[in-house]
Amino acid sequence: MTYRMLQIGVGGYGKHWSERSLPPNIAGGLVELVGIADTDPVALRAAQSFHGLPDSACFTSAAELVRAIKADFVLICTPAWHHEEHIGLAVAAGLDVLCEKPVADTMEATIRLENLVRKAGTKLAMTMTHRFDLPNTTFRNALRSGIDGPLDYLVFRQTGELRKYGAWGAFRHELPDVMLGEAGIHHFDMLRDLAGADCATIFARSWTPSWGEFKGDANVLAIATFQNGVKLSYEGTSCNAAAINPYFKGYVRAECENGVLILSHGAVERHWHDPTRQRGSRKEGEGDPIAPAEQTKFGDVWLLDRFLRWLDGGPEMETSMHSHVKSQAMVYAAIRSVHTGQEIDVGAFLQEHRSSSAGT
Ligand SMILES: NC(=O)c1ccc[n+]([C@@H]2O[C@H](COP(=O)([O-])OP(=O)(O)OC[C@H]3O[C@@H](n4cnc5c(N)ncnc54)[C@H](O)[C@@H]3O)[C@@H](O)[C@H]2O)c1
Repeated sequence: MTYRMLQIGVGGYGKHWSERSLPPNIAGGLVELVGIADTDPVALRAAQSFHGLPDSACFTSAAELVRAIKADFVLICTPAWHHEEHIGLAVAAGLDVLCEKPVADTMEATIRLENLVRKAGTKLAMTMTHRFDLPNTTFRNALRSGIDGPLDYLVFRQTGELRKYGAWGAFRHELPDVMLGEAGIHHFDMLRDLAGADCATIFARSWTPSWGEFKGDANVLAIATFQNGVKLSYEGTSCNAAAINPYFKGYVRAECENGVLILSHGAVERHWHDPTRQRGSRKEGEGDPIAPAEQTKFGDVWLLDRFLRWLDGGPEMETSMHSHVKSQAMVYAAIRSVHTGQEIDVGAFLQEHRSSSAGT
């Protein structure tokens, strides 16, 4: 079946979706773009022209779009603080939703949306692009193979030369807790998946150095534990003098009983434990290279394909709201840790928010 799709937000990352991630799935006959909305007429016209849509399918109001055009689901690519409104419109119109991360910009709104889609029976999934790109898929497959033995701990690093205003998109330089609120969801969602369990506790520190042009905190260091005992050391920063592992070239190290797996700059390698030696020393880059995962689709192209298989009656998507809420809890528990100076019990944090919204 070819699903009829609406897209709200076709500028910024929505343009990437429209021009790069949608076309392979349109060409495969899986999806048809039948209507778009964006408050910016320039972005709207560009997407209209790219897809050859009639004027009657293009709107500057998301509410008018969902009222006027019959569809099966909506892709939402607006900034996070608009997601609750746009998901609300979709649910009221009986549409399923694929939404850009994060689902919302507060824990309270996240829980309201969890309740909304559960009561309505709406399928809502998030676009955790990085978790499903080629390097991270290769790394996950290597770790999941189990041949390295039990996972002890994970180390994560993403740094950035983004200190000048606008370097990371102007709006991010205005946001509070920007690294955790904007990028942390990608990182924590991926790390929760690699750990193989939900986060148990998190302790975080965030700040912006004097040379960073951010209103919120753009640098984060954190320590977390997961419910299966796996530990995490996390570095997510934006004001570095030189970005050793920038966006899309991040670093993850999985320390297992019998091997060490390293992802850096898109390449994955394994260093085996040699039981005959002690006090050894290895260099990154000199491990056994791991061949890239073989799939026809990765990232957003794969996520849309996977979402459509869920709509077809296939298994629930890995990034469904049911799962996403646990990654959001890790993000907002980290933010609470920053503001209280305390280590936070993430399960209790989630339960506290669910209880205080009970009945809504
Ligand atoms: N998955 C990824 O790797 C990735 C990468 C970048 C951004 N994102 C996410 O994508 C979302 C959008 O971020 P962005 O960087 O593209 O923002 P942006 O501001 O660059 O673009 C947002 C677009 O939405 C439009 N818009 C804003 N308010 C609207 C409204 N009320 N109705 C209709 N259109 C509206 C804007 O005009 C603009 O065209 C965010 O949730 C962000 O976190 C995800």
